[in-house]
Amino acid sequence: MKQSVKLIVGNWKMNGLGASLAEAEVLKDALEADPAACRVVLCPPATLIERMARLLGGGAVETGGQDCHDEPSGAFTGSVSAEMLADAGARLVILGHSESRASFAETDAGVAAKVETALAAGLEPIICVGETLEQRDAGEAIDVVSRQIAGSLPVSLTGQPFAVAYEPIWAIGTGRTPTLEEIEAMHRAVRAAMLKRLGAGGAAAPILYGGSVKPGNAAEILAVPEVGGALVGGASLKAEDFLGIIRGT
Ligand code: PGA
Repeated sequence: MKQSVKLIVGNWKMNGLGASLAEAEVLKDALEADPAACRVVLCPPATLIERMARLLGGGAVETGGQDCHDEPSGAFTGSVSAEMLADAGARLVILGHSESRASFAETDAGVAAKVETALAAGLEPIICVGETLEQRDAGEAIDVVSRQIAGSLPVSLTGQPFAVAYEPIWAIGTGRTPTLEEIEAMHRAVRAAMLKRLGAGGAAAPILYGGSVKPGNAAEILAVPEVGGALVGGASLKAEDFLGIIRGT
């Protein structure tokens, strides 16, 4: 397969105040001085999207959201729509992260509905899938993830820019990662499920790996066949750590 530019996405989760924008600025300055070999995105909490997008100016670092509602507007107290994210300056949005699947009891069909509204708002969705430790230990990981792909990717993704992120739940924030062989096997299975679901439309979108990616393990993970980038939580909060990952691409 042709090598395309890797996509490195930082997910700040529920971390970050106005003062944290200084980290985004350090990142931007470093990548303007010495451009990355990859595409770089930061997804701050919704409250910072507009300020971050203005600060970054859509240059070396793009801005994304972490979730959105599946309706474009309405009586949904506390929720943020895809259109609002786009209006604030986001260009991408993470959907179906295991933390939002768990907190909001999101189903695959619910994630697919969010993907539809994100596409309608002109956002590039990053759709997350991943198994629990119990599912992996039971030998069900590939089946579970393939089912999530079939249910969470609407056919309207065909021809649109999007990414899939494989994040084993037991690797998120734990410091544990699958072996490189396990990552490769899962990424090949994810690609097969994408092709089954979308036909040729599932051939080009990058498949990111997420879960305890750090400067020390990023280069070897990013070199695994079918790993098209990384979704990074904790190590994206400090520009220095995130740069260490970016420079490994
Ligand atoms: P982590 O989180 O890098 O802190 O493990 C990854 C994620 O949840 O996207």
